[in-house]
Amino acid sequence: MSQTILVTGGAGFIGSNFIRYVLQHDPDVQIVNVDALTYAGNLTNLEDVADSPRYHFVRGKIQDQALIEQVCRDYGVEGIINFAAESHVDRSIHSAAPFLETNVLGVLHLLEVVRKLSIPRFVHISTDEVYGSIAEGAATEESPLRPNSPYAASKASADLLIRSYIRTYGVPAIITRASNNYGPYQFPEKLIPLMITNALENQPLPVYGDGQNIRDWLFVEDHCAALWLIYQRGSEGEIYNICSGEQRRNIEVVEAIVRLLNKPSSLIQFVPDRPGHDRRYAMDATKLRQQLGWQPTVSFDEGLARTVQWYQNHRQWWKAVRDQSYREYYQKQYGVLSGKAEQ
Ligand code: NAD
Ligand code: TYD
Repeated sequence: MSQTILVTGGAGFIGSNFIRYVLQHDPDVQIVNVDALTYAGNLTNLEDVADSPRYHFVRGKIQDQALIEQVCRDYGVEGIINFAAESHVDRSIHSAAPFLETNVLGVLHLLEVVRKLSIPRFVHISTDEVYGSIAEGAATEESPLRPNSPYAASKASADLLIRSYIRTYGVPAIITRASNNYGPYQFPEKLIPLMITNALENQPLPVYGDGQNIRDWLFVEDHCAALWLIYQRGSEGEIYNICSGEQRRNIEVVEAIVRLLNKPSSLIQFVPDRPGHDRRYAMDATKLRQQLGWQPTVSFDEGLARTVQWYQNHRQWWKAVRDQSYREYYQKQYGVLSGKAEQ
């Protein structure tokens, strides 16, 4: 059945992959993408779908409730999927206010629109970081929220706000919590694309602390498949963890990238640790696997090789991105291009 959905934050990494995935997999869906185009939003991520009659773009912030309402009315929006966020932990450590503006207040305004216009579906993209560092075992959807960075705290705050709107107003919301994503179009400030692009330019690879921190790596297309399944078949009011189970230490990830690119391991530099750095993220995604039958299809080895190849083949994309905001930001924060190496 034909329907129109509003994707917010669709010009970023996961949002742009999601839009492409849905347009390819579901010919009956129209998508309106509202994105503020911050440093992380990039319309070239969606160049290949920009001319589709089923895709529309509106520039705007999710905090702009009047605009979001107008878009929902104009396009007859029947569901909202929210990707819009400030998403980088390091930036949140330097300046938390934009994280609260977008990740909390923005979500409040989206919830108000959903409530006012009785939008039948609202899926909010959250993160495993809300559970904090997990020494042993894995967090389930019932585990306590123990965020440790301003970014994680802003995401946890939104999750709690959504919970309150579900309970208080019966808003038909679903929260998804994904592990670390990687793949094409990821902004080269996050671990994997930063290391690939630095290595391609023979720049140092700054590994925080002892490099033993563990993340669970989810290929972005597997995440998009899970999200579309949850959007269509997930239960209102529920939370779904999404992860692959492919846990790796940071240093293993960086060494694998160095090997794939045939670069010398002398590029790897251990640098001062991130303050409050979470040691290990781990989630249990049994609920999603058992209730909706999702499972990841791309192994970490395959996904990393595909990602490395994508960055090798898309130099123009990442060079443009690095030349603009990235260079500006890192030079301002650290006085160098490659991260914390010379702090
Ligand atoms: P990203 O930083 O690449 O993209 C964020 C997008 O949101 C950008 O296009 C940006 O322009 C837009 N945006 C920012 N503020 C906005 C605002 N106020 N109004 C409208 N648009 C705004 O982020 P990403 O990695 O694609 O992450 C997407 C979502 O997934 C985020 O909510 C993030 O918290 C969550 N998430 C990310 C990961 C990951 O590993 N990247 C893992 C789990 C969850
Ligand atoms: P990141 O991609 O920022 O994701 P998150 O902090 O949300 O998990 O970082 C992933 C891991 O890599 C994290 O443990 C911090 C580490 N890291 C580095 O060691 N060096 C870097 O330059 C970056 C950006 C991250």
